[in-house]
Amino acid sequence: MSDRIRMTIDGREIAVEPGTTVAAALMMNGVHSFRESPNGDERGPLCGMGICFECRMTVNGASGVRTCNLLCADGMEVSTQ
Ligand code: FES
Repeated sequence: MSDRIRMTIDGREIAVEPGTTVAAALMMNGVHSFRESPNGDERGPLCGMGICFECRMTVNGASGVRTCNLLCADGMEVSTQ
């Protein structure tokens, strides 16, 4: 579809349907480790509804953004933390 949203994950371009959350877009594209804990453990979405903060990523340069309740937008740049 031509109305797909284009964005990047760690510099890799992806395209998703409108209405897709960032966390869902990442998981559909094989990204399950969103960040590392202070002791190096891989972390990823847990609750999927904005409570646990495990889905935090850097979005358009802003760190600590919860991605499970953030909709994808054209040109969005997402990076693991
Ligand atoms: S997955 Fe829990 S706050 Fe996003």
